[in-house]
Amino acid sequence: MILWCFTFLALTVKIALAAGRPLFKDCNQLPLPESTSTELLYLHRKLVETESITSNEHDVGQWLASYLRDKNFTVETQEVSENRYNILAYGSKRHTTILVSSHIDTVPPFWPYYHNKTTDIIGGRGSVDAKGSVAAQIIAVQALREHLRDDLSLLFVVGEETGGDGMRAFSSWSERPQPNYEVVIFGEPTEGKLVCGHKGILSFTLHIKGKAAHSGYPWLGVSANDVLTEALGELLELRENGLPWSAKYGNTTMNFGKIEGGVAANVVAETASANVAVRLAAGTPNIVRGLIVGALADVKARVEKMGGDLEITWAGEGYAPVNIDCDIEHFETMTVNYGTDVPLLAGDHRRYLYGPGSIFVAHSDHEALKKKELEQAVLDYRRLIVEASRMDHQDQQEL
Ligand SMILES: *[C@@H]1O[C@H](CO)[C@@H](O)[C@H](O)[C@H]1NC(C)=O
Ligand SMILES: *[C@@H]1O[C@H](CO)[C@@H](O)[C@H](O)[C@H]1NC(C)=O
Ligand SMILES: *[C@@H]1O[C@H](CO)[C@@H](O)[C@H](O)[C@H]1NC(C)=O
Ligand SMILES: [Zn+2]
Repeated sequence: MILWCFTFLALTVKIALAAGRPLFKDCNQLPLPESTSTELLYLHRKLVETESITSNEHDVGQWLASYLRDKNFTVETQEVSENRYNILAYGSKRHTTILVSSHIDTVPPFWPYYHNKTTDIIGGRGSVDAKGSVAAQIIAVQALREHLRDDLSLLFVVGEETGGDGMRAFSSWSERPQPNYEVVIFGEPTEGKLVCGHKGILSFTLHIKGKAAHSGYPWLGVSANDVLTEALGELLELRENGLPWSAKYGNTTMNFGKIEGGVAANVVAETASANVAVRLAAGTPNIVRGLIVGALADVKARVEKMGGDLEITWAGEGYAPVNIDCDIEHFETMTVNYGTDVPLLAGDHRRYLYGPGSIFVAHSDHEALKKKELEQAVLDYRRLIVEASRMDHQDQQEL
């Protein structure tokens, strides 16, 4: 059956497209043909072995570009900043209906690749987030290219882990192939499920300025640490009761990720700061900015009266919760709480988010997935691409 699925892929796709029938009912099962599995594991290993912590994506990008050229893709690179390149790959057409995309940067620190053959667990930094997606996407697209008349592009961006400068650059690229794709499939760790949406985000830093003094005479100074403590108290209260929520995404959460202040126990702190990330379950960044400013208004007025200062700097615009298409049969679905490049790709397209491995290990020192998950992802990406293009085909017939 499996060999049949691969050998007669062209035929199955054509028949199913013509008849509007569901595809791959029996073809969506492991094992992969051995040569396909070997190629997948090789590609994944090479990607993970090459360290590519955000801002150091040059080497992995260069290796990947040359791999794709060897597979007869046309490869273009877009410089995002010095020595950092997005990679766009396609076959005979530059304008394609479908774009398949993920990111090639990882979070720090680097962890080396390993494959435990006893447990069939494959690990290392990026093995899940998102080089598992990258490898599976390439193998899936490679198998489908001919059959979908080369109507597929691959895009691998830099900088996803630190705010998405790679995807932003692609969105506004003057040489971008077209303003719109019909369908874009994004790869991030989703445990092999289709993601119906993710929370929005809003990040900011609180800066407090006080006045230093000897700790024996605190009334001569203004303690920035005291002010920060009060401000965080207000934010905690807001977090408990005042932030928007939704049935789909649950509660909006607020994380005080980094707090700094003062220099020593016997000095009244002159400065203090806190870095805060809010994950929006409802509402918009503007609404939540308003709530935060409101919650801090009294503290700000008090500290200014004493000659100190409280300022908020917003890290970018932020974005509201992102709804994503998940209308493909036979996939489990879920929502997630992490941000992605999905909202950063400009254009009017149907969009899907899927990838092997779990987000719960993605940024940890035990980042790893099962070989089987990686292989299943090839089948799932293939089915996702074909089903999405079939829907597109139907849309055109209906017009
Ligand atoms: C790439 O194209 C060349 C020339 O047409 C061909 O010989 C080679 O087998 C192709 N390689 C792949 C991986 O398709
Ligand atoms: C593979 O994993 C098993 C089970 O955790 C462990 O006992 C074994 O030592 C590992 N093998 C290698 C080569 O690390
Ligand atoms: C949301 O917050 C409320 C009140 O703080 C709590 O009772 C509830 O369990 C939370 N819901 C989820 C899904 O975490
Ligand atoms: Zn990721």
